[in-house]
Amino acid sequence: MLDAAAKTDFPIPTGVFAQTVTEVQHYTDSLFRFRMTRPDTFRFRSGEFVMIGLPNAEKPVFRAYSVASPNWDEELEFYSIKVPGGPLTEHLQKIKEGDTVLMRKKPTGTLVNDALLPGKRLWMFSTGTGFAPFASLIRDPETYEKFEEVIVTHTCREVAELAYSQELVASLKDDPLCGEFAGGLHLYATVTREDFPFKGRITDLMASGKVFDDLGVPPIHPETDRGMICGSMAMLKDTKATLEGFGLVEGSNSKPDTFVVERAFVD
Ligand code: A2P
Repeated sequence: MLDAAAKTDFPIPTGVFAQTVTEVQHYTDSLFRFRMTRPDTFRFRSGEFVMIGLPNAEKPVFRAYSVASPNWDEELEFYSIKVPGGPLTEHLQKIKEGDTVLMRKKPTGTLVNDALLPGKRLWMFSTGTGFAPFASLIRDPETYEKFEEVIVTHTCREVAELAYSQELVASLKDDPLCGEFAGGLHLYATVTREDFPFKGRITDLMASGKVFDDLGVPPIHPETDRGMICGSMAMLKDTKATLEGFGLVEGSNSKPDTFVVERAFVD
């Protein structure tokens, strides 16, 4: 859809796309997902993030959001928390089909396949809305061309917060592009503050070895395993230390290595 199709009360700032919301789904009081039109000229690598805002002020507030859809998708999808009183999410959570969302034109980020050396098994570690970039990567065939096995871990406080990741992974087997690869994908979902078959923080489950036993895979090893991490500041720090304990080394776009961390969402 053309930028001109979107209606705003304020002039659209330069370097910004104005797009139209096509779908909104609320999961809990604090989590929702939305889809919007994708500008024809917008290119990104699965796993990258963009800055999102609303046309509700002369100088809109922008926040970093991972694109949750894969790069082949005709639309763009985002997964968001609702922060009470949050300068953006307070308003963003009220969007409806047909509304306008602003997006800065340049995507960026470190959670991309290019920033990792080839390996056998890719681990994606997420907590809360940190699952979003992995929602993109697990729908990109390139991920499965590069790795035989893909394990995405998602840890939340409560069971209801797992709905997006669980529904998405369950639906992948019917996906036209990734369905044939879905056998190589495993979702390891854990909960920390309610009863659930798999309980605890992923860092503790790696330290005890339980996650490896549960999945029937050997412990993480630098020759075979690669990692991507997305979550809160404390989670990034602790998961990074755990991976370094297994001998993995942090990489970047300019210097690919055995694991990468996304710091864009950290305060
Ligand atoms: P916990 O309930 O034990 O704090 P948050 O909403 O605070 O970002 O937490 C999301 C999930 O991430 C929760 O299940 C939380 O567990 C877990 N978590 C929080 N901090 C860490 C950390 N430093 N390492 C691993 N997991 C963490």
